[in-house]
Formats: sequence, C-alpha cells, structure tokens
Amino acid sequence: SHIGIVSAAFNKGQRRNGVKDGPTVIKEAGLIKRLQEFDLKVIDYGTVSMEKLERNSSLQLGPDGERHHDAVLAYNRELASLVRKVIQENGLCLTLGGDHSIAIGTINGHAQANPDHQVVVLWVDAHADINTGGSSASGNMHGMPVSHHLRELAKDVNRLPESWPTPCMSGNHIAYIGLRDVEDCEQKFLDDLGILAFSMKEVEKLGIFEVINQCFKHLQPSTDRPLHLSFDIDALDPLEAPSTGTPVRGGLSLREGVSIVEAVRETGFLKAMDLVEVNPELGSEKDVKLTLQATKTILLAALAGRRGAF
Ligand code: ARG
Ligand code: MN
Ligand code: MN
Ligand code: MN
Repeated sequence: SHIGIVSAAFNKGQRRNGVKDGPTVIKEAGLIKRLQEFDLKVIDYGTVSMEKLERNSSLQLGPDGERHHDAVLAYNRELASLVRKVIQENGLCLTLGGDHSIAIGTINGHAQANPDHQVVVLWVDAHADINTGGSSASGNMHGMPVSHHLRELAKDVNRLPESWPTPCMSGNHIAYIGLRDVEDCEQKFLDDLGILAFSMKEVEKLGIFEVINQCFKHLQPSTDRPLHLSFDIDALDPLEAPSTGTPVRGGLSLREGVSIVEAVRETGFLKAMDLVEVNPELGSEKDVKLTLQATKTILLAALAGRRGAF
C-alpha cells in the first residue's frame, strides 16, 4: 500500500521555534527507510515551508487576539491543498508537524479529498485544542484547530476574508483520548456539543481497550467515514516524550499510545494521520532521543502495524 508524507514545518501556532524542525529530525531518524522495509511504498512530498509568510513575519493578531492569525490560516490553506492531493494519489497521508495548528489544514484537506463522505477524527492529546480566539487565554492557535472545523462553533471562529476554512464536521464526528489539561471554556464546548472525550481518568478507570472500542463505536469509521488520526506527542507521558512545548505529567504510556494506533490501523479506514508537537530544541540530548524513539514507535505501529526497535 502507498503512503505520502508531508512535512509541515510550521511554528507560528505557538511561541517556540524548534517545533518547525520536527519533520526534519523525524525523517533523519530513518522513518522512511524503516517503513520501506515493511514493503510500504512511501513517497516524500517534501515540505510546506513558511518562507512566503516569513517575508511579512511581524506579529499580526486576529480579531480576538489570535497570534499570527492570517499567517496560520494562509499556511494551512496551502497545506490543505497538498494533503488533499496526497490522499487522492495515495489513499493515505502522514503529515509531520510542526505545531498542532497544522490540523486546521490537514483535516480540511482530508475533507476536500472526500467531498461526499464525512471525515471522522480521533484526537489523541493532553489538550482539547478546541479554543476559539475569544475563549483562548494564550492566543496560541495550536490550541484552536478543532474549533475551526466544527459547524456548531462556526459563528465564533474568525476566518480568512475568503471565509477559509469552511467547517467540515460536527461535534459527533470527533472523539478524544488522553485529555488532562482542559481549560474551563474548552470543557464547556465539549459538554455543550456532547463531544465524546476520554481523559486520563477514564483511561485509568476503563482501560485503554475499552476506551478505544467506545471511540470507534461512536465514530463508526467506514468507507463512507474515512478516519483521521491527529496524534499530539504530548498525549504521551513526558517521561516517554519530554521534548515538546506543553508537556503535562500523568499521560499515556508509550504502550497505550501504540495500542491506540494499532487499533486505528486495524480498522482499515485510516486515510490521514498527523504527528505533531515534537520539538528537538527542548530538553537534553537524551530527552530528544527518547522523544524521537517514541515518535518512531508510534508511527511504525500506526503505518506498518509493527512493534520493534528502530
Ligand atoms: N489550552 C492551551 C492553549 O489553548 C494549550 C494548548 C496546547 N496545545 C497543543 N497543541 N500542544 O493555549
Ligand atoms: Mn497537546
Ligand atoms: Mn460512498
Ligand atoms: Mn494538541
């Protein structure tokens, strides 16, 4: 089977530079060669760069104080076109982040590739990333991607003048695993929209397999409901993946993360995956190494269905 890889070297959704180097270090760690060893046809589509935006890189706030509002959306609009093309050409697109604001583009691109099907999203993260400009305390758009896609929040979200991105799903088309740092405004969105969300408390109480099964029962991935997996490396416990911008202790073990992505793969309906928020500038050399090992382990399990060393 075929996989297209897109590098979303983007950092303007938050305040640390190093996260834009995520794709490079993940690829340098031998990802593509390892996947090819399992007979996967891997095509590297290269990098969607920020260069065009950098020429006008002064901080521009959106109407509700969203930092780099137009730059984030302009970048994601370009990313979305490439993700659409990669899914159309390969059936599966892996996007390497970059900060999590890139899920504005990847999910929109996935929806563009499936104009008459409903994309469903499994969001694995310590955070809900469902803030709007108005609800966000930080103004960082990596905390806002989900709100951009939800029809129920359409009137609360500021878009580009051409009104991009168009919402492509409702609250019942997304489920969360791993939450443990959710702001009050975000919790209210989750509650009001009736969004299925398993925090670490539920993972602890129910066990990871029950949680996964309930997510799929709810999302019902199928040919008509292509599955998008958005995996924020900070879903894992910082002991497993320390080199990330907003670590929160008490997270998923690497084994729980692997169990999630194995189950995602086994549905047979995974069409797009994001792996975001790896920042090789944070932590010690050993921290970076651990984080990259965990990242590769997740990707190998998700895409090749293998456990094993790199
Ligand atoms: N909730 C916080 C915010 O909105 C943190 C978001 C962290 N997001 C992430 N993708 N790591 O600023
Ligand atoms: Mn997160
Ligand atoms: Mn159909
Ligand atoms: Mn996130």
